[in-house]
Amino acid sequence: MSFPRLRSWFSERYDIERIKDLVGKKTVPAHRYEIAYYTGGIALFLFVIQFITGMVLSLYYIPYFEQAHHSIIEIVTKLNMGWFFRSLHHWGAQIAIIALFVHLWCTLLLKAYRKPRELLWFSGFVLLGISIFFGLSGYLLLWDERAFAAVRVATGGAGSLPFVGSFIKAFLRGGTDVSGDTLTRFYAFHVSILPLFTVFLIAVHLLLVQCHGMSVPLSVTGQNRKDTPFFPNVFYKDLIAWLIILGIVVTLATLLPPEILGKADPLAPAPENIKPEWYFLFLFQTLKLFPGVIFGLNGETIAILLISAGILFLFLIPFFDRKSQRGEKSTLFTWIGVIYLFYFLIMTVIGFIS
Ligand code: HEM
Repeated sequence: MSFPRLRSWFSERYDIERIKDLVGKKTVPAHRYEIAYYTGGIALFLFVIQFITGMVLSLYYIPYFEQAHHSIIEIVTKLNMGWFFRSLHHWGAQIAIIALFVHLWCTLLLKAYRKPRELLWFSGFVLLGISIFFGLSGYLLLWDERAFAAVRVATGGAGSLPFVGSFIKAFLRGGTDVSGDTLTRFYAFHVSILPLFTVFLIAVHLLLVQCHGMSVPLSVTGQNRKDTPFFPNVFYKDLIAWLIILGIVVTLATLLPPEILGKADPLAPAPENIKPEWYFLFLFQTLKLFPGVIFGLNGETIAILLISAGILFLFLIPFFDRKSQRGEKSTLFTWIGVIYLFYFLIMTVIGFIS
């Protein structure tokens, strides 16, 4: 069927003109910070890559602790382009988390969370949490020594939370220690539960973006500014950004395929120099700052409580920042955002080199 015939087939059944009208009318504010508007689209594009490569891998992966490690070795050595899909999935995940952090800090520093976009902020924040859990659950699926030890440390850390810690630890592990049951559980999270929540929340997030339109930074609102049509101007720039990101991910995947260590052995001692994924490093580095005992209380528990309070504060920031709610400049919250950003960066770098 030719394109014009396909179009008339649809227009006889659906009101295509209304959609065309809606897309045609959509505009995006033009100002010196507009580059921030592309970060969400980049995250979206990377999610699509993750879904496609993940689906390919799931056709061959065996989610059983006796065979999981071997099935990945088979994927990278025997399957046509299998190494490439695995490497693409690995690097896509790393760049997706970087893109999400950049998107978070752009929206934080431009105060895009302010009234009426609170729900946009909350849905995005939960999406970041889910993405980090995607990373942790996917890491274990490799079932090699390093992934096993790192997940043992990460789930053990959750156990230090007061009251709910031991429940969360046992829930994540599916028992007292990391075992084949944890693998089954993490597989279910990685390929079924998390994707379901992600698709739902991305739909809510994008719907809210369409409801509110793009926010204008407080430092720009008063000035004489123009709006750019979304289609084709901004849409083409989105495509260029996606092409650049695709280039970066494919280059990394080709040049640096991730290594696979020996099969996990729950009875063997943890390999030396175990480090969690880079986005957990700031947490582990913070834990190291605290002594074992503080005023007779467990130092790790106090550290985890303080970290949780810091994350909760960031989550609820739209309610605390009253000035930007009223449309006034709020320098204090810009500084708070900058301090969070530098703390994260410095602790991550120290975690890397220590
Ligand atoms: C799967 C993860 C996510 C996807 C796919 C996504 C996608 C998007 C897209 C496409 C936009 C519109 C363009 C833009 O501003 O970049 C947007 C806007 C927004 N996002 Fe996200 N986002 C995600 C996660 C997050 C996170 C982690 C946060 C922060 C906690 C967040 C907060 C916001 C806010 C406040 C806006 C409105 C920006 C404005 O009006 O200026 N999002 N998101």
